[in-house]
Amino acid sequence: MFITLEGIEGSGKTTQVEHIVEFLQSRGHDCVVTREPGGTKIGKKIRAILLDPESKDMDSLAELLLYVADRVQHINEFVNPFLFAGKTVVCDRYYDATVAYQGYARGLDISLINRLHKLALKDLKPDITILLDLPPEIGLGRAWKQIKSGARTDIETRFEKETLSFHKRVRAGYLELARIEPERFRVIDASKNENHVRKEIIEALVQKMT
Ligand code: TMP
Repeated sequence: MFITLEGIEGSGKTTQVEHIVEFLQSRGHDCVVTREPGGTKIGKKIRAILLDPESKDMDSLAELLLYVADRVQHINEFVNPFLFAGKTVVCDRYYDATVAYQGYARGLDISLINRLHKLALKDLKPDITILLDLPPEIGLGRAWKQIKSGARTDIETRFEKETLSFHKRVRAGYLELARIEPERFRVIDASKNENHVRKEIIEALVQKMT
């Protein structure tokens, strides 16, 4: 089973990934956790370029191709071998992030993104995608609080430094993707507290698995 988590900055994905794994393991699933960008050794180098605030002048198409490069390496080196071995793969962000950020928010052609995905990844789709949804004003507030307190690194803040309207377009893009594919997406209100969100995610997983 291939499970992905999506959401804007400060939506709490990283914390919830830990809860998901704990739950799946308690149900006897053999899971691995990973993320994009940066799920492989090569991907970590690509991540550093993509998230460095000093990369602020990066061309949008170059940005898109770097995310796709990271993903091709990650799927071929990590995700597919584990899926073929029968493991459950839990991934913090995947292809939907590219459609939301580079497509809806940056304005790149979504059909180009879809074609690249088909070509490079043979259209590998998650079985379930959990979308942690919340207003960007709240998400960005949380993200900057974590960065300022040192809980999160400040060398990966290129996207946090984008405008509020950019993050509003990301959120709207994700919600549109969830509307288009209701079978795959579960939208969860991430403005609620951690435990409430955890319970809702687990309910969604149980529904999917039964
Ligand atoms: P994160 O690991 O903290 O979620 O940060 C990854 C950042 O990269 C986040 O701001 C979203 C952005 N991103 C894209 O713009 N496109 C993508 O395809 C992916 C996977 C992430």
